[in-house]
Amino acid sequence: MEYWNDERWLTVWPKRERLTDAITPFLLDGMALQPGERVLDVGSGGGKTTLAAARAVGAGGFVVGADVSEPMTELALQRTRHAGVDNVAFQIVDMQSGERIEGGPFDVAMSQFGVMFFDEPIVAFANLRAQLKPNGRLRFACWQSNAKNPWFFAPILAEFVSPSVPPAPGKSPTGPFALADPAWTASILEGAGFSAVRRTTFEIEVDAPQDALVDDVQLGVMGIPNEHLEKARDAVETHVARFKQPSGQSRFPLAFAIVDASTV
Ligand SMILES: C[S@@+](CC[C@H](N)C(=O)[O-])C[C@H]1O[C@@H](n2cnc3c(N)ncnc32)[C@H](O)[C@@H]1O
Repeated sequence: MEYWNDERWLTVWPKRERLTDAITPFLLDGMALQPGERVLDVGSGGGKTTLAAARAVGAGGFVVGADVSEPMTELALQRTRHAGVDNVAFQIVDMQSGERIEGGPFDVAMSQFGVMFFDEPIVAFANLRAQLKPNGRLRFACWQSNAKNPWFFAPILAEFVSPSVPPAPGKSPTGPFALADPAWTASILEGAGFSAVRRTTFEIEVDAPQDALVDDVQLGVMGIPNEHLEKARDAVETHVARFKQPSGQSRFPLAFAIVDASTV
């Protein structure tokens, strides 16, 4: 939770979104949001997907963004005020805590890369399910494996950060690829009471400046100490050189899955 509450996300995340904005239509298009529906956006981050869902459900509908991060939620609130949207609210909450989300019960729960960070995933998804109406639906985007997402460079920096601690007994590993395995994901969702689990995979390429992926502030958020910054920067430069285009932009291959499930 400390990781997501780092104030530096306020400047890092808007850059990172240039990589993932292209995925939002894949998430929303198949969701068939109807005017008047109530939607819960889990791990809503800077609120872009929350605002997009609010447009889809119209003035008679309502969307709540739930996120554990104060800085991310501050960014979402700034954007909501700027857009003048009033059918949206945000709640700072850990989805693993069982805290009630104000504004429910919801017709739909959605998430763009906000559901892979639970070390008790069955508990978190059961909490999420409890916020839905009896005929509720769930749809989220998660990453396929790291092998299919070579842009994710964190493994090459292992020598510069403290070794990661294995999960405590009974806890699950978390991180961007925590739901990369289809069978594991289905078992979590079924364990949390969801049914009709369906997974569709996509591979796209996105052109973005390199700092959508990494810059010195991002390296700081990842815990690279100042004394290793130069070496870490060099290692990353070598790794990301393969994505560089003659235009100066980088072309990143993104492999993700959209997962659907139902409460019945
Ligand atoms: C990869 S970001 C995605 C943000 C946003 N959905 C987007 O697509 O830009 C993951 C988000 O999940 C949130 N998150 C992580 N663990 C959470 C938890 N236990 N409960 C609620 N939100 C959580 C983080 O704070 C972060 O905003």
